Amino acid sequence: MAVEDRNITCTTQEKAGDSCCGIPLLGFVLCLAEMVDLVNRRLLEHHLKVAYLAFRFGEVLGFSERSLGDLLLGGLLHDIGAFSLWERLDALHFEFHNPHHHAFVAYLLLKDFAPFASLAEIVRYHHVPWEEGRGGTVPLESHVIHFADRVSITCSFRKDPLGEIREKEPFLRSFVPRLFHPEVFEAFRKLLSRDYVWFDLASPHLRRIVHDLIPSGRLCLNTEDFLRFCQVVAHLIDFRSAFTATHSAGVARTAHRLGELTGLPQSKHVLLFAAGLLHDLGKIAIPVEILEKPGPLTEKEMHIMKSHAYHTFMALSWIQGLRDVAFWASEHHERCNGRGYPFGRTEEELLFESRLLAVADVFVALSEDRPYRPALGPRRIREILENMASSKSLDVDIVGVLLDHFDEVRASCREVQEQSALEYAAFRQEIVRFAG
Ligand SMILES: [Fe+2]
Ligand SMILES: [Fe+2]
Ligand SMILES: [Fe+2]
Repeated sequence: MAVEDRNITCTTQEKAGDSCCGIPLLGFVLCLAEMVDLVNRRLLEHHLKVAYLAFRFGEVLGFSERSLGDLLLGGLLHDIGAFSLWERLDALHFEFHNPHHHAFVAYLLLKDFAPFASLAEIVRYHHVPWEEGRGGTVPLESHVIHFADRVSITCSFRKDPLGEIREKEPFLRSFVPRLFHPEVFEAFRKLLSRDYVWFDLASPHLRRIVHDLIPSGRLCLNTEDFLRFCQVVAHLIDFRSAFTATHSAGVARTAHRLGELTGLPQSKHVLLFAAGLLHDLGKIAIPVEILEKPGPLTEKEMHIMKSHAYHTFMALSWIQGLRDVAFWASEHHERCNGRGYPFGRTEEELLFESRLLAVADVFVALSEDRPYRPALGPRRIREILENMASSKSLDVDIVGVLLDHFDEVRASCREVQEQSALEYAAFRQEIVRFAG
């Protein structure tokens, strides 16, 4: 699939330049990659480095523009299936136990998004040793990402990147051809004399460097694909834990319906839906061990948990065209009385859409099981919403609209959550089948 054929729409004029007519996919994926790496300081920039190296190896190997795009995006997404902290840290060992599990999970998450079909296959095999994958179904791009990944964990690229990479070359060579494709290793050797590659990897500007490798106009999402991609992201956020498996879908549907019921213009309904899908984006940076903790969180764990709303803002506000969505999504824990987080904004400072997202989030959360309590019934949910409105925690008018249409909104939310639950069950089943 060519980059231009990814169902990603741009006008001819915009394709020729560097501007983007829709949502820039690369910027969005970059934010996701950085979020996944925020889970531990030892992993910072891992995805950036792998993407950068894979792209440079691909250039030397004469890959097409399409394959270079796949290498870049594949490098940025290759470990998104490693949900737990221990699994991410385990992958820092040069050869580690069961490396294919997280690669398969990433494949499952990406495969149903049509523009990522080939990318999903590449990510699926990114830990297959060359001697096991040669002549089989493993794409060459997977071998490139595999080697880029192992170079990334072998070198720190901190103090003397030129000296370090030359020093590590014999060690890496010792795994050719057992682990690494000989041609990929040759491409690496050619790059050893190109100092800028290794300076780039040590640069504080690596994000910008990676971002500029492909003109943003080439990888833009039209509205339809943007929403489909948001669904993929919502699964990535939600499927990390059974307790959150259907949350974003429920908030998206509820926010969309509340947008209609409160009379917001139709143009905003879709964006509210997207904000609902993305509101907990920052939870990708929270270790699953905290998300699933059965008892009360410690003070420190609570601080980490609260940071998710901040991370949501920092990621989305950087993406061109998503500034409004960034505010609405990241302010879902703000409270009208100023007692929310992370910004402590008051009713006057919060946009109506942000207050609406906050109501949707509370409503959906109360109707879901949590590690520390079961789902609440309709009467109790109504009571809590009324109390939160009267204490100026939630917007009185929006809560009023929700309570007036309670059964209908609840049924609509449940419908989409049931669908999501089925998708989650199928996802778990595939993983069990893979492991078995
Ligand atoms: Fe990996
Ligand atoms: Fe990795
Ligand atoms: Fe949240």
